[in-house]
Amino acid sequence: MITRKNIGTDGRGNNVELFTLTNGNDTQAKISTLGATLVSFLFRDKTGTMRDVVLGYDDPVSYLDNKGLYFGATVGRCANRIANAKVVIDGTEYTLEANNDTNNLHSGSNGVSHKMWEPESMDEEQNALTLKILSKDLEQGFPGNMTIKVTFTLDEEDALRIAYEAVSDKDTIANMTNHSYFNLAGDDAGYIGSQKLKLYADSFTPLAPVGSVPTGEIRSVENTPLDFRDFKEIGQGIEDDYDQIRYAKGYDHNFILDNKGNLALMAEAVCEDTGIHLYAYTDCPGVQLYTGNFIHEHKGKNGAVYGERHGFCLESQYVPNAVNEPAFLAPFLKANQIYSSVTIYKLALD
Ligand code: BGC
Repeated sequence: MITRKNIGTDGRGNNVELFTLTNGNDTQAKISTLGATLVSFLFRDKTGTMRDVVLGYDDPVSYLDNKGLYFGATVGRCANRIANAKVVIDGTEYTLEANNDTNNLHSGSNGVSHKMWEPESMDEEQNALTLKILSKDLEQGFPGNMTIKVTFTLDEEDALRIAYEAVSDKDTIANMTNHSYFNLAGDDAGYIGSQKLKLYADSFTPLAPVGSVPTGEIRSVENTPLDFRDFKEIGQGIEDDYDQIRYAKGYDHNFILDNKGNLALMAEAVCEDTGIHLYAYTDCPGVQLYTGNFIHEHKGKNGAVYGERHGFCLESQYVPNAVNEPAFLAPFLKANQIYSSVTIYKLALD
């Protein structure tokens, strides 16, 4: 079932709508037209209590007041960092907004994550909602008028499928992600350190000491705190005296996935208290594990108080700065070709 309601303005004169997808288990995914944002993901835990497992806000304005956090947002055109906010496409250098030190992060402070999306279609049978946006030529500094669509589908197995499609009239970049912060004990439950995580990755892309841009190296996770090949508590290693952990102030790294472009598991996470188990799948070449190291103390949904490390993100993506780094597969998109990608977040009980 899909319902829609108006949830007020974004403070810039736009009305924001909230769509709720509900399945037969009472699982709900709530998506707003501001940033095509996953506002809530509600699931019944092992005690029968409904838990909202993603961080967010009740009102649209808070999403704009806390732009740098990207809670639940659809991020694009290019997720994560582009070094020195510059990229060369077909021999022309394009300058982007330097919104994170000297680098571009998540396409700048006015990316599609903070814009109004239009409802394109609602499919009651599939429990699917498609939102659409036109990102104009050079709007965020990227070439090409690009139409981006994102479809959220909630199935009867409690899987939320997020499918992206984009096409541009000039050669450009396409690297979309969803920036949900998960807390499997509930969004108001605080530190996520005791929740367990498994990543389907043998290697990661180390960061330079400052600026959080990958150096071009691909390093094995073996004998590092970034070894999540078997389930381990997220808090384990998060303060280790290891250069990569120090540089990022915790986990904030891209891991290399071996899915060869096919939809496959990228991660699992479990909270023993609620019994909630997250299975995350993607066809992207990488995933950013970000443990909310920069969440400042502030108010969230329903009076919740959020703070440092109260949520973890599993952002499917190309390697950050791949557009400037020949060692990595880069997300360049040719004019009139279709970019498509799928990520699934599925909830279950252990
Ligand atoms: C980045 C972090 C950043 C966060 C919120 C993540 O994808 O890797 O460094 O703080 O997004 O903007």
